[in-house]
Amino acid sequence: NTYDFGLIGLGVMGRNFILNVADNNFSAMGYDLNEEQVKALIAEGEDPQKVNATSDIQTFVSSLSQPRKIMLLVPAGKIVDSVIESLLPHLDKNDLIIDGGNSFFTDTDRREAYLKEKGIHFFGSGVSGGAKGARRGPSIMPGGNKEAYKEVQPIFEAVAAKFKGEPCVAYLGPKSAGNYVKMVHNGIEYGLMQLTSEIYDILKKAGNYSYDELHTLFDSWNKGRLQSFLVEISAEIFNRDDDKGPGKLVEKILDKAKQKGTGKWTSQNAMDLGIPIPSIDIAVSMREISALKEERVQADKLYNRPEPAVMDKEELAKWAEEALYFAFITTYAQGLHQLSDASTEYGYELDLAVIIKIWRAGCIIRAGLLEDISKAYTEDKALSNLLLSPNFVPKVQSTVTSARNLVAYAAKNGIPLPGLSNSLTYFDTYTSGRLPLNLIQAQRDHFGSHTYERTDMEGIFHTEWE
Ligand code: 6PG
Repeated sequence: NTYDFGLIGLGVMGRNFILNVADNNFSAMGYDLNEEQVKALIAEGEDPQKVNATSDIQTFVSSLSQPRKIMLLVPAGKIVDSVIESLLPHLDKNDLIIDGGNSFFTDTDRREAYLKEKGIHFFGSGVSGGAKGARRGPSIMPGGNKEAYKEVQPIFEAVAAKFKGEPCVAYLGPKSAGNYVKMVHNGIEYGLMQLTSEIYDILKKAGNYSYDELHTLFDSWNKGRLQSFLVEISAEIFNRDDDKGPGKLVEKILDKAKQKGTGKWTSQNAMDLGIPIPSIDIAVSMREISALKEERVQADKLYNRPEPAVMDKEELAKWAEEALYFAFITTYAQGLHQLSDASTEYGYELDLAVIIKIWRAGCIIRAGLLEDISKAYTEDKALSNLLLSPNFVPKVQSTVTSARNLVAYAAKNGIPLPGLSNSLTYFDTYTSGRLPLNLIQAQRDHFGSHTYERTDMEGIFHTEWE
């Protein structure tokens, strides 16, 4: 028997992905060193003609139809290299290896170049949507050799999530384009998660919202312009009772957020490219601050903070909805700006309209708003920043006041809104024709003769300040 598709790494993501492939009438063979996982997949797959699995690499490779399409769903890092090495002796020219994990993009470039010499195609292909997405339809972000992509395209299009019938997968660009896009997707994910958590906090502290009320509010937001996966699951989370005691489960969850690196990489690389993404940077910093739990508890006792003045629930909800919408837009704007610059820098030739389209379903950052964003980039392929899109000016203009109101209230009442503040700062500075950085230039010239340019004359100037 020959199978259409091979998958290495039968953890929950891998197992779900392979079952999804089989649901779509492609036969698939799984491989994992762990015999238990092999057995579990065979049992779940029911028909071994359609879904099978093995712990023997040779059996695995020789059971696949050529050119072989082998996807890796293993943790990013050295494991990917060792899996590649174990496959290599068994592969033939033109076979495809697809890394579905969150690998760092320069690792993907290295692996792609290494395998190219051996005539093997390597795809860095972000997969978003978690375990459920893998089973029911993820958003898939592949990058690599364009011709070779055609080999796997029918399978990917079949298994991907569908937005109004359109599959949420597309060839994105050469080399590490797919991993890079997935990295920035995750950066945006960090930003949106931070924002929703802040809004939850202020609703509780300033509006005394109960969890039932939060559930109802987020649920209603999810039926409007804030419709998004993260708002939807937050509503669900607020509704979940703790099964170990009274109250809601979310209240008992330790406020230390973990991270696997993709958000940090997004920020680090944005710094390298010189692209400002403060809404994402602060989301990474907040995970770091959250990790300092013991110190925070200690510091909490050393300082007084104002007792928040209680706000009218309705008014607060209006501010919160508008502010969150405003901040979602500015966060997407920053991530997309990074993608457009990275595309030039790394030669990815990204089509932002296509990327936004494949984010409309399946992935973690899917949101109703992406329909409008996709229109903005379809109308103007060269749009350098979403905030410059004429369609977005009224959306932003009509909601920024609530962001200001909320940030001002929060600052006064000692409630941190770091993501929202940074989004507002980004907006207020990006939309400032004149910033006070003329003084910085003067200081640089004063202490270091670093020179400056003038607003009224061409040329490079230096002044003897003393
Ligand atoms: C997705 C997610 C996923 C990521 C988790 C965890 O698109 O399905 O981005 O790929 O691994 O969100 O990320 P952190 O552990 O860094 O929060």
